[in-house]
Amino acid sequence: MYTRLHEYFDVRCIDCNQSYGVDEIVYTCRGCGGLLEVHLDIERLSDVISIGLWRERPLNVWRYRELLPIFDDSKIVSMNEGGTRLLRCRNLAEEVGLENLYIKCEGDNPTGSFKDRGMSIGVSKALELGFKATLCASTGNTAASLAAYSARAGLKCYVLVPAGKIALGKLSQAMMYGARVLAVKGSFDSALKVAIQICLEEDRIYLLNSVNPFRIEGQKTAALEIFDQLGFNPDNIVIPVGNAGNISAYWKGFNELRMLGLTEKLPRMHGVQARGANPLVKAYRSMSWIVEPLENPETVATAIRIGNPISWKKALRTVHESRGSMIDVSDEEILDAQKLVARMEGLFIEPASAASIAGVRRLVEEGVIDRNEVTVCIATGHGLKDPEIALKICEPPIEVDPDTESLRRMLTV
Ligand code: F0G
Repeated sequence: MYTRLHEYFDVRCIDCNQSYGVDEIVYTCRGCGGLLEVHLDIERLSDVISIGLWRERPLNVWRYRELLPIFDDSKIVSMNEGGTRLLRCRNLAEEVGLENLYIKCEGDNPTGSFKDRGMSIGVSKALELGFKATLCASTGNTAASLAAYSARAGLKCYVLVPAGKIALGKLSQAMMYGARVLAVKGSFDSALKVAIQICLEEDRIYLLNSVNPFRIEGQKTAALEIFDQLGFNPDNIVIPVGNAGNISAYWKGFNELRMLGLTEKLPRMHGVQARGANPLVKAYRSMSWIVEPLENPETVATAIRIGNPISWKKALRTVHESRGSMIDVSDEEILDAQKLVARMEGLFIEPASAASIAGVRRLVEEGVIDRNEVTVCIATGHGLKDPEIALKICEPPIEVDPDTESLRRMLTV
């Protein structure tokens, strides 16, 4: 049935609107170099979509099958990604001064981050297009996810990571899933540049960074899930921003819901960067459409340690169109927020994810978000990804002799 879907999709340049077929291998516009986006003919798709049918399917990425540009069912590579918890956080809400605060727990995904949503589509597409190998540059989570999905698909996988700058959990995942891990002597930004170059030259290797527009199609399903889980769209989404693909993926998802006539309401999108890796915040503050890359980005949140976000234009458009904002938070605020959410809600999320918690606190303080607005923070990755941080910032275990007297001295209840 889904081979027919082919007719409803094409890939378009967000700048010059040049259209490409869904089976063309193209990462950026051949005419103007602009970013690409998968375009859906929503009007015609509405005829094949049944909301009732959606609701009968399990909550995961593939519930929204008709909105996903994979046409050959036999090529689908899935581990039931998506369907992550949307948890109401009453303790944290009170702490930051909100009535309705939710956290979308993307660490629930198969490899522990939101990347799995995009990789399910991206690696399925690699098979559909006949590739034998995949490649990405990554601060860690993309690498872990691509490695896992490529393993399941029987594809060779290469991941480029900034040497010495990726969290231990992520590195061990990529290695265990059998990817060839290449530690680039430089930043993530330099790794991404060379990753794109090599995939343009070696046309047998499929590039699966988020510049690849098919990945965004998987990631947009998180927005659809939030709508399904709440029964309506929230007032605000607060989300960490690194290479800037995910914030625009959510925005695309929310807009498709609106175009399908399921809701009129769109949330305001608030992007959060780490202070030491904040080129988009700087551009946003100066009301500029020119993003000055940062040569040496630095933050404890290694996942978003990015100085030259490739999807900057999509992210700035998202923030402006949604009347949201782009803010930065210090490493100290990030680590405080990471502890806070663990200790108040029992949620262990990685530092980059905690940027959204630090961000919501600030947005409430600054009056950007009102007390009674329904707000969802996106916790993009699991805390176990970066165990070294926890060991660094928490009280170490206390040694105790194995007798009740010694033990009792330690108990203060
Ligand atoms: N949170 C986590 C845990 C991430 O791993 C990333 C990105 C982001 C947020 C930011 O998302 O790049 O779409 O704005 N990680 C990429 C990687 C760069 O290689 O794993 P973004």
